[in-house]
Amino acid sequence: MRSGVWRFRELVLQATDEEIVTHPEGNTPLLSRSAVANYAGVEELLLKHEGHNPTGSFKDRGMTVAITQALRVGARAVACASTGNTSSSLSAYAAQAGIPAYVFVPEGQVSRGKLAQTLAYGARMIRVKGDFDECLRVARDVSARLGVYLVNSLNPFRIEGQKTIVFELLQQLDWNTPDVIALPAGNLGNTSAFGKALVEAHALGLIDRIPRLLAVQAQGASPFAQGFAEHFSRRVHVQAETRATAIRIGNPASWDRAVRAIRDTNGTVVAVSDEEILEAKRVIDRCGVGCEPASAASVAGVRKLMRSGEVDGSERFVAVLTGHVLKDPDAGDTPDDATPALSAEAALHLVARDLER
Ligand code: F0G
Repeated sequence: MRSGVWRFRELVLQATDEEIVTHPEGNTPLLSRSAVANYAGVEELLLKHEGHNPTGSFKDRGMTVAITQALRVGARAVACASTGNTSSSLSAYAAQAGIPAYVFVPEGQVSRGKLAQTLAYGARMIRVKGDFDECLRVARDVSARLGVYLVNSLNPFRIEGQKTIVFELLQQLDWNTPDVIALPAGNLGNTSAFGKALVEAHALGLIDRIPRLLAVQAQGASPFAQGFAEHFSRRVHVQAETRATAIRIGNPASWDRAVRAIRDTNGTVVAVSDEEILEAKRVIDRCGVGCEPASAASVAGVRKLMRSGEVDGSERFVAVLTGHVLKDPDAGDTPDDATPALSAEAALHLVARDLER
């Protein structure tokens, strides 16, 4: 099957071809760009670009499975809380499946690209006063009281689909494991999925050792990094604030499963500042790859880990880029509207002068 999720069906969900709702998704590239490796200070750093999925983020891998399962159980409607990517993905897959979708988003905190996308595919968008954590409370309540099928990553079928990011990247490396896999961490569904995938791949003998996970949070939304520093002795909640709106989450839902993922992989958790995230994004953008701000946290995290001296630059790193550059059009350079537009002749002169420099 052409889907990069369903070709691993035996490790995901035993659904029949007729049952599966697929775009298709997955089969994303594993890119090598020396500028990014140099920036992070390591010899080998590959970028697994999940922004190449149909709706521009890794969420499609979990959503194809969750919506397939929603149809199998005869759900009357589906719902999620979201910072914008899950809602875009849900909206697209629900449209394909012909099932009504409700999405709860934090008012004023979702990027323009994601809002436009979620609305375009036709989901009913409900803006909620409060942050993502509040939206998730509402979504859980709606699900419990009204019998609507919840597809946040609390839904185990989402996690099963997201495991294929790891299976696919290991396959692209001919099952030679890297030393470290870095990913941005918000609600911690993906961290959980990566841990589960690695343990399963190892148990099946597909890989002979388990690489370390590096979960990277934005400083202003880093309860999991704080928890890690305290050996996960308690569950930490914070009031989240970061320009990487995708991971602006203070009370991650998949905490326990993610703790297990970090322990099972001898993993580590770091926090990086918004400045570090945006600096890393610029390096990724400028080499022609591009990603949304939250995604750049993975590369910023590798750089931070290197600088801490905890890892050695000769280790092999993979950083996952979770979302497409167009997701957040206001995060990168924006056209300078203050400068007046030029006539054709003036534009020609400007280029001529520029080339002479
Ligand atoms: N990167 C991007 C681009 C995301 O959209 C998200 C989560 C993450 C990383 C973090 O993944 O939550 O599994 O730890 N976005 C969710 C959403 C919350 O609603 O789109 P996580």
